[in-house]
Order: sequence, then structure tokens, then C-alpha cells
Amino acid sequence: MTKQLNTIPRVGFGLWKVPKEECADAVYNAIKLGYRHLDSACDYGNELQVGEGIKRAIDDGLCTRDELWITSKLWNTYHAKEHVEIALQKSLDDLQLDYLDLYLIHFPIAQKYVPIDVRYPPEWIFDPSSENPTMQRAPVPLCETWAAMEVVCKKGLAKQIGICNYNSGLLHDLMSYAEIKPAMLQIESHPYLTQQRLIRLAKDYGLDVTAFSPLGALSYLELDMAGASESILEQDVVISVAKRLNKTPAQVVLRWGIQRGNAIIPKTSKVERLKENISIFDFELSQAEMAAIDELNINRRFNDPGDFCEAAFNTFNPIYD
Ligand SMILES: NC(=O)c1ccc[n+]([C@@H]2O[C@H](COP(=O)([O-])OP(=O)(O)OC[C@H]3O[C@@H](n4cnc5c(N)ncnc54)[C@H](OP(=O)(O)O)[C@@H]3O)[C@@H](O)[C@H]2O)c1
Repeated sequence: MTKQLNTIPRVGFGLWKVPKEECADAVYNAIKLGYRHLDSACDYGNELQVGEGIKRAIDDGLCTRDELWITSKLWNTYHAKEHVEIALQKSLDDLQLDYLDLYLIHFPIAQKYVPIDVRYPPEWIFDPSSENPTMQRAPVPLCETWAAMEVVCKKGLAKQIGICNYNSGLLHDLMSYAEIKPAMLQIESHPYLTQQRLIRLAKDYGLDVTAFSPLGALSYLELDMAGASESILEQDVVISVAKRLNKTPAQVVLRWGIQRGNAIIPKTSKVERLKENISIFDFELSQAEMAAIDELNINRRFNDPGDFCEAAFNTFNPIYD
């Protein structure tokens, strides 16, 4: 009998944009390499394949279910109280699990409901085949969604619940009414967007923090949401620390991410990088190196609905301004 994890492993495998055809093998290989934390979501469109990879790893004796930490996320179209459990159950079915370790509200954005048998995952656009496809908002307050998250938590379908992409105002508000306190805030954070104040607030309130896009621009190049010159891995300070430690620039940036106290969830489709990204526990950055990387902050956000919803979904929908 193994002991269930009650804290999130510091490095997880991020599953956004892992192609379906590679995903089951990628999950299996990640578990084989020692990953015990998977960051999944309805919206990533690959939970069936994530589930296949998990099942194969467990069947082959690489680990038990209890040794894994599986996070998934509630999509924007399921914010109404009557849809939260349906959405969570669909993720569980696809993942072939009977509980999640953590269920997160993916965005503080409520969109019009799309039934699972009409389209899954529903994504951002409500009416993809119309002449002028757009997002459509739904008038669902976040307190209603949180109350439904508490219900699925009480039922044991999710051991812990939390939020993504909340700013400090929304977090203060949530803390004022949450009966079950959020365990986790997942936000974009890397050396160009250190988010020190928001992270400090989350920790003051007792939340743990997971940093997504921990490598910064790299994930956004293919989406035209970042420029080629924006790679943090090419910063002199990162390169010089990497040389001193005989590590790669990516390992330095990821080590900075965990050494500041957050969990991180780097994504890669390459086995050698999976290994590289989790091999960050046998070295340390000095205080001066940590501070020098902190100094790279320019508040550059790559994942901003205020930009991408208009560019890609014909709907102006800022949430951070
Ligand atoms: N809650 C949210 O709203 C939200 C939003 C965004 C992301 N996330 C989560 O966070 C995870 C990570 O974020 P992300 O995927 O945006 O960005 P990321 O993990 O910071 O970067 C991924 C990019 O870096 C490349 N890469 C990975 N390891 C590398 C290495 N060692 N050296 C050089 N390049 C490397 C990958 O390319 P290859 O694949 O070609 O290796 C990919 O292009 C996601 O997968 C998802 O689980 C959550």
C-alpha cells in the first residue's frame, strides 16, 4: 500500500499542445523518467491519450495511481453549477481515473454552455461554423462556480481544488467566501513575468503556486504570440550561470522556478528534454544568481486573453486590466 501524495511534486509534465498521436507515449515516458505530476486539462484535447499513457504505466508497474499527482481543469463553458460535475466526470472518464489530485478553474471567464455531445472540447468559439464566429460569454458568477467546485471536492472526485489566471482582486474576493479554501493558484510565471506581488499574496493566503509557461516565450513562438528574439534562454545571465554549473540554459530557468518556491510544469514533446527538464535537483543557484534572474522581469505576459481572444476568436476579452 503506497501513501497518497498530499503535496504537488515540484516538477510536472505540462500537456498543452502535446499532439494526440504522441501523447500516450510521452506520458508513459515521462512517468518512466520519474515524473509523478501531470498537468492536464479538458481544453488540451488529449485527455484520452493522457489516460492511455497513465494506464499503461500503472499496468507495467512503473508506479501506482496513488504515487501520481494528476491535475485537470474546468473549461470556461462549464462554469454553471449544474455543469461542473459533468465536466469533471468527463475528464475522469477520459483519464481512466476515479479521482483527481487537483481540479482548477482554468480561466475566470464564463462562456456559454456547449453540451459534451455537441462538441468536445468546446474550445473558445461558440459557433465555429457561423459566418462571424465569436466567443459568447455566460452570466455565471465565479462564486457559483466555486461552490460547485466545493461540491465535487466534498464528493472526493477532486482531492484539492484551485484556480488559474486569477489576479489579486479575484483572489481576495474568493478568499472572502470560500468554504473550502483554494489549495493552488496556477499562473504564468517565468523570468520575464516574475509576478512577485501576486505570488506573495497567494502564499500569504496559504495557497501553493504553480508557474505555467516556466520557459517563457518558447511555447508561444509557434502561435505567433511571441517573437524569436524573446527567448529567455539567450539572456547572458542565464547562459553564464549555465556555464558555471555545466547545465543547460533551460535547466537554469527551471531551477530558478522551483528555487523561488513554486511548482513548475514544463511541456516538451521530446524524450531527451523530458529528462533534461526534471534533472534540476542536483544543483543550486546562488542568491546573487537568483536575484540577477529576478532582474530580468519586464512584466511580459505571453498568455493574455486581452490579446489572443481578439486575434483568434474575434472577441475582445481582457481579464488582467
Ligand atoms: N492554466 C493555464 O491557463 C495554462 C496556460 C498555459 C500553459 N499551462 C500549462 O503549463 C504547461 C507549460 O507551459 P507551456 O507549454 O506554455 O510552456 P513551457 O513549458 O514553458 O515551454 C514549452 C516550449 O519549450 C520547449 N522546450 C521544452 N523544454 C525545453 C528545453 N529543455 N530546451 C529548450 N526548449 C524546451 C518546448 O518545445 P518542444 O515541445 O519542441 O520540446 C515548447 O516549445 C502547459 O503544457 C500546460 O500544462 C497552463
